[in-house]
Formats: sequence, C-alpha cells, structure tokens
Amino acid sequence: MPYSRIAGLGHYVPDNVITNEYLTSVMDTTNDWIIERTGIRERRWVDPTKDTVAGMAAKATRMALQRAHMTEKDIDFIVFATITPDYFFPGSGVLLQRELGLEGIAAMDIRNACSGFIYALSTADQFIKSGMYKNVLVIGAEIQSTALDVTTRGRNVSVIFGDGAGAAVLVPSEKPGLLSTHLHSDGRFAEELYVKDPGSSRPREERQPEQILDTTTYKVVMNGNQVFKHAVVRFMEVINEALKANHMSKEDISLLVPHQANLRISQFIQEKMALRDDQVYNNIMRYGNTTAASIPIALSEAWAEGRVKENDVICLAAFGSGFTWASALIRW
Ligand code: UT7
Repeated sequence: MPYSRIAGLGHYVPDNVITNEYLTSVMDTTNDWIIERTGIRERRWVDPTKDTVAGMAAKATRMALQRAHMTEKDIDFIVFATITPDYFFPGSGVLLQRELGLEGIAAMDIRNACSGFIYALSTADQFIKSGMYKNVLVIGAEIQSTALDVTTRGRNVSVIFGDGAGAAVLVPSEKPGLLSTHLHSDGRFAEELYVKDPGSSRPREERQPEQILDTTTYKVVMNGNQVFKHAVVRFMEVINEALKANHMSKEDISLLVPHQANLRISQFIQEKMALRDDQVYNNIMRYGNTTAASIPIALSEAWAEGRVKENDVICLAAFGSGFTWASALIRW
C-alpha cells in the first residue's frame, strides 16, 4: 500500500491551569496585554513531580489508540517530536517505548521545535510508504514551563508557552491519507529563538562551576518581533506550496490547523488568504503555545468537535525555531 493515513488522534494537557491573572501576580504584565498581543487567556503548566514528557505522551497515545480501535502491540515505530525531552539524552521516544511496554521496537526523536510534529509526520509517512514500518506512533509533546524565566525579565517569552502532548497513529492506506508534506529550514536565524545550554558549543575553560550555575543560559531566548515577521511570510508560502503541489486552491481547504504560535499570526494568515472562520482552527486561547504539541492537540480537539470529517482536506502548517517551517495536506 503506497500511502499512509491517520487512524486515530489523542491529546493530554496537565490539570494545572495558569491564568493571565496568576501571571500578573508574579511579573509585571497585564491580562489585557497578553490577550491583545497573543490571544492567550490561560495555559497549562505541569506539576513536575507528577508529569513527564513521555508520561503525557503515553496518555495521548492511549486516547489515539482507542479512537483508532488499536492497541499498543500494533505499533512498530515511534517518532517523537520534542525540544524538551525528559533527559538531555536519551530522547523521550525510548522512554515512551518503555512506558508502553514495547521492548525492541524502533523509536526516534525529532528536535524541530514548532515544526517538529509535521517533520515527524513526514518521517513516519516515508517509512510507511517504503514498507519498512506499518503502524507508526507520531508524537508532539513538550514541558516548557520548567525552562521559562517566570519573572518580569522573561515576560516576553514566559506568558506565551504551555505544556501538553498530542499523538497520531499513522497506518498504511490504499489511498491518501497524507497527500504531501513540505519541509524547510534556515539556520541563519538559529539564535533568534533558542536555548543555549546544555549545549556543547562552549569551550571547556568556560565550563566552570559559576557558569554552570548561571541558569540564564538554560532559559528560552526569543526575538519575538523577528520571529513574528518571518512566521507570517513562511506560513503563507508553505501553505501555498502544499496547495500547488496538489493542484488545489484555498477554497479546497476544509480546515487549516496552524501551529498555535500567536493568535495574531493565525488571524493574519486567515485574513490574507481570505479563509472563513470555519476553515481555521485555533485553541491557543486555552493552551498557549505548546510548540511540537500544538498541532496534534488542536487536530485531536478539532476531530472530537466534529470539525474533521471523511473526505475533508486538512492543512497543517508550522513555523518556529531554527528557523524551520513545514506543511502537510491530508485527505481525511
Ligand atoms: O512558536 C513559534 C515561534 N514563536 C512565535 O511565533 C512568536 C512570535 N512573536 C510573538 O508572538 C510576539 O512577538 C510576542 C507576543 C512575543 C511579543 O509581542 P510584540 O507585540 O512583538 O511585543 P514586543 O516584544 O514588541 O514588546 C512591546 C512592548 C515592550 O515594551 P516597550 O519597549 O514598548 O516599552 C515590551 O517590554 O511590550 C512589552 N512587553 C510586555 N508587557 C507586558 C513584552 N512582554 C510583555 C508582557 N507584558 N508579557
């Protein structure tokens, strides 16, 4: 069978709701600023003593498998997108494999930030098309709250990000399914959105205890304006690339599920492409920006709400750190 399709979707978000009001109590910010600039009303942050990235992914997986009418034993490959793995190494893919009791199956991590889920989906699609693997678990999961500077100094970053996990079960199919994926990167902008440590780029003499104890280099650094400007251009480009490759136009899109970076970015794309409200799915208001988890969480919720129906054309699109950007077009 030369194609793949999504047989089931699942998601999990931690119970702990962090409201904008709470953030005003720990830093100099306001509910109005956050809503006006980002659209976010609340996000979920883990209790690190309870949740892990692999543990959240396992919960999302169980929902996806149940909806696909499959069990853990049907999975023969895990592709796990995250930039916040439980350990620096090994990746969270093997931890999920352990959690699911699937000793011996292949597992790999993808570290492409907000584009990670689409990169993972594309990777899984190639393995299914080649016949090497059959039923592939594709994950996007992040715990970002533990790497945020939750003070006024970090307010331009910390109000945006949230934690969560999403899962998709990709299976072989006689017809698409996944119509095409489109992947891009431009490393000239790597430092516009990054976390420096624990990186190997430092000379050994810099690795003195006082440097290691300086935790600022372990926090997310983002040049928000620069990221925003590139995002709006690349999102449009990569969506149009997917449409063109499939001889479709924007009218053919049943639902666009953009990476939930900032509501203003989604609204800008919607306006520029003249898409109706029912053609675009947003849930950033409730979860913030969950990086690699944002698309599978949104897709899973959209499916549960009945907004993804048989034969629909679903467009996924993402942009983020790297810079990387990507799209996928799916016939449901
Ligand atoms: O997930 C993939 C990649 N990420 C993105 O796509 C994010 C893209 N960027 C953004 O979403 C926006 O750039 C932000 C939401 C991060 C920032 O919004 P902005 O409209 O670009 O704000 P800004 O950084 O230009 O800052 C404007 C002002 C500054 O004050 P002054 O210098 O004008 O006095 C900031 O200090 O807003 C201030 N500010 C805040 N004020 C209250 C920055 N953060 C906050 C805050 N609360 N949380």
